Amino acid sequence: MSQIGLFSTSNQYSSLDDVLTALRGLKDDPLANAGTNIVISRGNPNAKLLIIGEAPGPQENIQGKPFVGPAGQLLDKILQAGNFDPEKDVYITNSVFRMPPGDDGKSFRKPNDQEIEYYRPFVLEIVRLINPLVILLTGNVACQSILRRTGITTLRGKWIQSGGRWVMPIFHPSYLLRNQSREPGSPKSLMWEDVREIRHKYDELLNG
Ligand code: URA
Repeated sequence: MSQIGLFSTSNQYSSLDDVLTALRGLKDDPLANAGTNIVISRGNPNAKLLIIGEAPGPQENIQGKPFVGPAGQLLDKILQAGNFDPEKDVYITNSVFRMPPGDDGKSFRKPNDQEIEYYRPFVLEIVRLINPLVILLTGNVACQSILRRTGITTLRGKWIQSGGRWVMPIFHPSYLLRNQSREPGSPKSLMWEDVREIRHKYDELLNG
């Protein structure tokens, strides 16, 4: 067990490839019978910035990569606004690794507590093996997984330091897609403030 605050983990896997292989081979996870695919990560495994989302949606389920649908396109734009290259500067993963199907079996729903808990040890192992300096938690599901608390409107934009990592909750891009206003104080305008702060911290940590 490595004792590093929020990121305390089992040290079960010796490489990122081992975690990815274990995840790809899951057969008894709570969403195994959902008939949806395992979707894990994209980006640069050497990146110092890690983004943790919620769960794959329909596009991600088809393409096998996180954040490639409408929310992902907005996430890439947000990153680019902070001068981050989404492929080179960032590694992107989720809190839950299969799309939870909706009640009608077609659409999708938010992951439940049991699903978030089940995948959490894998998320923590990914954090350990990527070893990022900065972690962004997009929305309440990622906050629940990593911080074990929710309340994104209060948590967003504030740094939490743990085990040498700097963690910031931010709004989920899907929330911004539903709230298009750019008025001062709107979710979009707060996101731009957060991105500037993230850039500032990243530069400070990497370049001194
Ligand atoms: N939303 C997420 O949180 N993750 C994805 O991969 C896609 C949409």
